[in-house]
Amino acid sequence: MYKQILFLLTLSTMLSKVIIAQEYETIEPPRKLTAKQAEIAEKNYLQYCALCHGKDRQGHVNDHAPSLKSASLFQSGVPHAILRPMSYGRTGTPMGGYLDEVGGPMTLEETWNLTYWLFEKSGVDRVKLSTNPVQGDIKKGERVYQKECSTCHGINGEGITAPALGNPSALAHNTDEFIRYAIRHGRKNTPMKAYQGILPEQSINDITAFLRNKASGWQDNKPVLKQLPTPAEYVVNPEGEHPNFTLKDDQYVMAEDLYKALEKKQKMVLFDTRVTSVWQTAHIKGSVPLPYYADLDAMIADIPTDVQIVAYCSCPRAAADHVVNKLRHKGFTKTAVLWEGIFGWMHLGFPVTRGDLSTLD
Ligand code: HEC
Ligand code: HEC
Repeated sequence: MYKQILFLLTLSTMLSKVIIAQEYETIEPPRKLTAKQAEIAEKNYLQYCALCHGKDRQGHVNDHAPSLKSASLFQSGVPHAILRPMSYGRTGTPMGGYLDEVGGPMTLEETWNLTYWLFEKSGVDRVKLSTNPVQGDIKKGERVYQKECSTCHGINGEGITAPALGNPSALAHNTDEFIRYAIRHGRKNTPMKAYQGILPEQSINDITAFLRNKASGWQDNKPVLKQLPTPAEYVVNPEGEHPNFTLKDDQYVMAEDLYKALEKKQKMVLFDTRVTSVWQTAHIKGSVPLPYYADLDAMIADIPTDVQIVAYCSCPRAAADHVVNKLRHKGFTKTAVLWEGIFGWMHLGFPVTRGDLSTLD
């Protein structure tokens, strides 16, 4: 019985490979990782990515971060559709850049190895896709998109419960064929179904052309890296009074209350708990990077115990909650999380300090 099941399973895997191969040519896997490289990649994944993408790469743990195990993504996206967002992030979304060049914690070698580790874990073959544009009718594509896709991806492709398809930095990296492949094949075990056979091929081409039309000629920016604050600079307004926040659910401070306290020059420590590259791009003035993956024990002696701490992120709270819970566990009681997150803060019109940018080649 067991053998029969195994035989059927093997047969169906072979068949699905044949089906893919008929439609698309498969291409050789990229280089293989050594055991040591794989071990470091796994450790990096758990430290930096699991918070949102999940321990098992299943996605949708926080912020609707997509699955990092779906077959169609790894058939069509290796290396660049994985490497680029991992390295530089997706502007305006909670996905920050992890490459050291932009202020993140990983070396170039580590980002490549993590890309291939994810690929190996997915267990699929790469398919060969052309880089030619997909031709379609933009107007017709928009009509189908609004009807079929906008509830999850947003009227302007800004992303709601699903990735921001109109995002300029995503469009700068993703080819037309990559997008079309995702629409045709969906993303297995996620809310993204396969539209092949549901929508006519022409409509899929039309939507692809419509999305491509939103590209803005975006280029990744390399910040001129700012010096990180030293412990002596942690406290904002050291001469000021202590704020007296009323916390929602004993944990959250509202953006408006935080803004007023800063206006009154009250004393506090602001922790930016996102990946440090996005602190480099823009942050609330006076904030100090304490990313969710930082080794708290190594920093603990530098954190004052008698000053109000406010942590924030863009997710809008997952990373900050994670850090504040750890701080509370270590006895820091005067701690709070910014309820709206930094995007909410910016939408309300409150100020941020921006980094200096130079364009990457
Ligand atoms: C704070 C939450 C968060 C963390 C931590 C995070 N991501 Fe993401 N990631 C996201 C979100 C949200 C998106 C989708 C953005 C969008 O709307 O396009 C995303 C998108 C991606 C994509 C694009 C996937 C696709 O289907 O196009 C890749 C690849 C990716 N992340 C890899 C990583 C890796 C690798 C790490 C760790 C080094 C990581 N992410 C850490 C939230 C996160
Ligand atoms: C029920 C909600 C929903 C609907 C409707 C939907 N999608 Fe998606 N879509 C998602 C989710 C969620 C993801 C991310 C899946 C994952 O975890 O990888 C996604 C992923 C994608 C991706 C891959 C993005 C990337 O960067 O990897 C594309 C392209 C896409 N959808 C296009 C479409 C189009 C076009 C339509 C309409 C024909 C559509 N989707 C309809 C939920 C939806």
